[in-house]
Amino acid sequence: NEIRVFCPATIANISCGFDVLGVALDSVGDEMVVRKIPEKGIRITKLEGQDLPKETERNVAGVAGLTLLEASGYDGGFEIEIYKKIKAGSGIGSSAASSSGAVWAMNELLGRPFSKIDLVRFAMEGERLASAVAHADNVAPALYGGFTLVRSYDPLDVVSIPNPPELYATVIHPQIEVKTSDSRSVLRTKITLAQGIKQWGNVGGLIAGLFTNDYDLIGRSLEDHIVEPIRSILIPGFDNVKSEALNAGALGCGISGSGPSIFAFCKGETIAKKVSESMKEVYQDIGIDHDVHVSKIN
Ligand code: HSE
Repeated sequence: NEIRVFCPATIANISCGFDVLGVALDSVGDEMVVRKIPEKGIRITKLEGQDLPKETERNVAGVAGLTLLEASGYDGGFEIEIYKKIKAGSGIGSSAASSSGAVWAMNELLGRPFSKIDLVRFAMEGERLASAVAHADNVAPALYGGFTLVRSYDPLDVVSIPNPPELYATVIHPQIEVKTSDSRSVLRTKITLAQGIKQWGNVGGLIAGLFTNDYDLIGRSLEDHIVEPIRSILIPGFDNVKSEALNAGALGCGISGSGPSIFAFCKGETIAKKVSESMKEVYQDIGIDHDVHVSKIN
């Protein structure tokens, strides 16, 4: 009647894959305890680690959970304890971790009446609350693991993508606040055909590289000519961090989600650690507090 779950952080978008490509990080995440209760509804009884609302309707785990509860026909409810390790607004899927952790745990406690794609749909309601747009690029990898592609939103179609065995992600979080809603509102809503051609060439290249373990192709495809040039203006030091990461041997580097975190993909742990050091030095030099993680992609 009770389950404890790990709720992974996620990098999404991944450069060229705005709102469609994401990956789960196995070594960074929250924990959550969910238990069945006879009373109807959802109660968040503990929320540690971040200053976030505990009221069900104002909490992403609460809202995602209510959507599942309504669809399930179960006449009891759930109690949730949330232990946040992912900082809200850091760009590594804090809200997605809570939304997807809640619905995954509830589905287990109810005997798995729902498929993974159903769980993505429920968790997206948490994302709608957090960023006003029900994007699925964070919740899909949080629920499926590894890399996922949201091939289509309507109808919702999520595809799991394999990853090469030696792929590592380095993520640095400069401690400045960039709200997803702000970093979405600066984006243009129209692109040119020439921009589209570059972007979908890179998305295809990235997917092909992940399927064939072609690290160089992955690196060449980690480009974004549409979103990154606009959003990077909101992240101090971005250009330097990127060039230092590439100089230190990263395959590619970009904004994690809506920022301010910056990620780099690397081949092997040794290079990933070297890259993390070079990224750190940029923020040490400009005097911005930061934390950095190196994760193997599984
Ligand atoms: N795909 C979303 C964005 C992720 O980039 O706005 C936000 O976490």
